[in-house]
Amino acid sequence: MSKRLERKHPLAIRWLHWINFPLLAMMIWSGLLIYWANAVYGLWIFNYEVFHFFPQWFYDFFGIPYRLAEGLRLHFFFMWLFAANGLIYVVYLAVSGEWRAILPVPGSFGRAVRVAMHDVKIVKKLPPQGKYNDAQRIAYTAVILMGVGSVITGLAIYKPLQLAWLTSLLGGYGWARWMHFWLTILFVLFFFVHIVQVAIAGWANFRSMVTGYDTVKAGSDLDSV
Ligand code: HEM
Repeated sequence: MSKRLERKHPLAIRWLHWINFPLLAMMIWSGLLIYWANAVYGLWIFNYEVFHFFPQWFYDFFGIPYRLAEGLRLHFFFMWLFAANGLIYVVYLAVSGEWRAILPVPGSFGRAVRVAMHDVKIVKKLPPQGKYNDAQRIAYTAVILMGVGSVITGLAIYKPLQLAWLTSLLGGYGWARWMHFWLTILFVLFFFVHIVQVAIAGWANFRSMVTGYDTVKAGSDLDSV
């Protein structure tokens, strides 16, 4: 079957997406340098801590200990770039109409379950989709909201005096810090699932986020000319 090229991702989306990747990586890395200095979180079942964030070997492996000041400097520098890039992306989605490809639509949640069942090979047929399938719509919208949440909770713990109204709106410093931490864990989980999905979707799909064009099966005789 012959194939043809189809425009998929606008230039702005590709740039903003790829700029976001190192910025988010830097935010997570510098966040870890800061977190080490007061590592309070764990997964608890009743009174038993099943997992502590993070084990000593993890810190040692990545060379994290005693780098709090460096972490703070990096975090407070890159946060502005991360927030600016995210803001430009959201404004671009809104004004370009690209938001239509991303936001879930009525029926998305039901169809996303079928997409997941297709991914684990329980059902054969994929539900009809546009640029993104419904699972992608939900995941991408969620990750954008997570970005907004990270910036808001981050500001609340960065300036809890100057922005006391924001910190107290989030339930106080402790809750804001807790949400900031768990949003980061969710980012890391999203990242791994995203990478696996991109790897499964194949080279042409990855390439489309670089060049803007995807290869699609030619639908008509004219297409294959
Ligand atoms: C090495 C890292 C990454 C790779 C290889 C990658 C790859 C891709 C690809 C190929 C797409 C297009 C999917 C499609 O056309 O079906 C995509 C879309 C997207 N990715 Fe990533 N990605 C990476 C990191 C990230 C990170 C860190 C985030 C955010 C936390 C992210 C968020 C998104 C979003 C929101 C979209 C939809 C963009 C839009 O159309 O507006 N990605 N990614």
